Amino acid sequence: MKISVIGCGYVGLVSGTCLAALGHKIIGVDVDAKRVTALTQGQVPIYEPGLSELILAQAAAGRLRFTTDIAEAIQESQSIFIAVGTPPSRKGGADLSMLFAAVDDVLKYANGPKTLVIKSTVPPGTGEIVAQRVASGPHRIEVVNNPEFLREGTAIQDFMQPDRIVFGANSNGGMEVLREIYQPLIDRGYAIFSMSRQSAELTKFASNAMLAMRISFINELSQLALAIGADIESVRVGIGTDKRIGPSFLKAGVGYGGSCFPKDVAALVHQMREFGLEPHLLSGVEKANAGQKRAYATRLIKALSDIKDPQVAIWGLAFKADTDDMREAPSIEIVHALLAAGIKVRVYDPQAMENARRILDKHVIWADGVDECTRGADAVALITDWSIFITQDWGHIASLMRGRHVFDGRNCLSSSKVLAAGLIYRAIGRPELMPGAGKPGSMGMISAG
Ligand SMILES: NC(=O)c1ccc[n+]([C@@H]2O[C@H](COP(=O)([O-])OP(=O)(O)OC[C@H]3O[C@@H](n4cnc5c(N)ncnc54)[C@H](O)[C@@H]3O)[C@@H](O)[C@H]2O)c1
Repeated sequence: MKISVIGCGYVGLVSGTCLAALGHKIIGVDVDAKRVTALTQGQVPIYEPGLSELILAQAAAGRLRFTTDIAEAIQESQSIFIAVGTPPSRKGGADLSMLFAAVDDVLKYANGPKTLVIKSTVPPGTGEIVAQRVASGPHRIEVVNNPEFLREGTAIQDFMQPDRIVFGANSNGGMEVLREIYQPLIDRGYAIFSMSRQSAELTKFASNAMLAMRISFINELSQLALAIGADIESVRVGIGTDKRIGPSFLKAGVGYGGSCFPKDVAALVHQMREFGLEPHLLSGVEKANAGQKRAYATRLIKALSDIKDPQVAIWGLAFKADTDDMREAPSIEIVHALLAAGIKVRVYDPQAMENARRILDKHVIWADGVDECTRGADAVALITDWSIFITQDWGHIASLMRGRHVFDGRNCLSSSKVLAAGLIYRAIGRPELMPGAGKPGSMGMISAG
């Protein structure tokens, strides 16, 4: 099928390229001319493992091209995916201005019947508003919802081997078009769930809210674990092995971030209030997340309070590993809290430095690598669990540092290696470990009273 994808960001690029790999002819459209020029020259503006190679292969096969000419793209296509951003609005809901601008383009340039597939994450009920808006035009435009569940860092695999694909349509015709588009994945046995447009919209929000809730749940408990000397990593395994609970999204850390969880939870909270409903649970999820970031920064500041001209090496800025995405990254708040406390902050991230430069305070010191970031630091604060940080030689790291503190914000480092290098290990919701002192009862061991 000939398909246009409006918006060549993380979702539009990945889904457009994967749809090309499934055999469709894709035109990627973006208002950002620089982005389109780069893509046309084979340069991919975001970091996503495997994406560059797949874009080049699909472009070479003649199934994928990029343009800023939205009129031509719409006129040449039977279906139009909208994958533009839906960032938070000032009032706390979703800002749908980019979505409606794209919808208006479809209405303006449609030269025959089309199917408009909303891929962006939108508040429940948005499809209905879009359907009413396009009904004023001369051509029949079917509006369907097809939420995207990909995760940055594993996006291609998530699209090509999905847990499920959700079709939201309020007509048989719309459902049929979605089936035709995804037939190659249906043939491979991937599960399809067909539902109303409103249900599909709510499924996407509910999915992100549930995952954010699990993270906030374990993070909140991690604060109690630290206070009473329990180990949240043992608790995580202890509850995650219960089949009713499961192990996913129960890793304690510095709080969730990224372009989805914060804004989608906020939008859901906002929408519930608009309907006169009180989001008791979800507003707690937000509060717990804000508290988790604060608690990490506060512990760091306290540990360095007696040091003159303290310096921290921040390892990782992206909101998670394997992406360059800095949107709502916990690092932003943590770095700014440290700077506000008069701490010198040196930062390094393997991919997110360029995006971070646009967001972080000008007083941050930018390092070229792990060594440069760490030299002279009183504390290493790991914020993103990139493998380059996990595999460091701790003897070498200790030799670069001035002080002895290691703050593992993702519970991903080997505490024994850190301790063996003579450093103090502080993690999230785990007992603080001093070099030379025996390790307290860990999973599988019961410490005698
Ligand atoms: N990033 C994720 O991991 C993820 C996962 C699932 C769902 N989503 C949802 O998908 C949507 C897109 O997210 P993203 O991260 O890809 O956003 P993004 O900001 O990376 O990309 C959006 C792109 O759309 C372009 N654009 C904006 N208005 C346009 C218009 N009128 N015409 C053409 N192009 C336009 C922008 O220039 C940008 O390149 C959001 O609703 C998001 O919530 C994101």
